[in-house]
Amino acid sequence: MIIKTAEYIISNNELSKCPKPNMPEYAFIGRSNVGKSSLINMLTNNKYLAKTSAQPGKTQLINHFLINKNWYMVDLPGYGYAKVAKTDRKAWSGFIKEYLTKRQNLSNVFILVDSRLEPQAIDIEFIENLGLKGIPFSIVFTKADKVTPSEFSRNTEAFEDEMLKTWEELPKMFYTSSTKKQGRDEILSYIDELNKLLAPKFKEFR
Ligand code: GTP
Ligand code: MG
Repeated sequence: MIIKTAEYIISNNELSKCPKPNMPEYAFIGRSNVGKSSLINMLTNNKYLAKTSAQPGKTQLINHFLINKNWYMVDLPGYGYAKVAKTDRKAWSGFIKEYLTKRQNLSNVFILVDSRLEPQAIDIEFIENLGLKGIPFSIVFTKADKVTPSEFSRNTEAFEDEMLKTWEELPKMFYTSSTKKQGRDEILSYIDELNKLLAPKFKEFR
């Protein structure tokens, strides 16, 4: 898929203030600092679209970006950052939980996982919550450029093994580096595929 336009629409902390749910929507979530905003910028080829920072806790709101005037990308706050209020540290709480469980046009959640780390309980738990609610999701391993290929394989395979303890089959997995633009075509093709599948459903909302 070619990204022709990527426009910032709105930021808020309330489901009711999100844009009308009349187009497919793809949300990006994961631990603070995992690289959600950087991935959105990499996918859209626009360094300045989503705000990034070396400090965790940069993204604090639900941020909507309209792509090709046809679907939304959503940058969400990270979870697990110790310096914010205790309730915000939890992955599954507050307005994020409300957004994830009630957003009608949410077509897929991309959960970003840091490829430098061993499986983290907070990510596994978050994925289990999505599963319990029947929310479709994929896994995106990030920062592949920051580890050796063997560390990368070890950590991603360990994560997959951890998931297989509770899941019968694995979801779609993407292996990415925002600095190297690795995984871009794969993620965009997947979104394109889903958009085509969902087109009939959204036609009636337009
Ligand atoms: P919060 O909004 O705070 O939850 O963080 P985030 O998940 O949006 O992370 P962000 O995109 O702001 O990136 C955090 C830091 O990691 C920044 O310093 C980025 O430059 C860096 N980063 C993100 N992705 C990559 C990557 O693929 N490779 C490398 N080397 N650095 C990355
Ligand atoms: Mg961010």
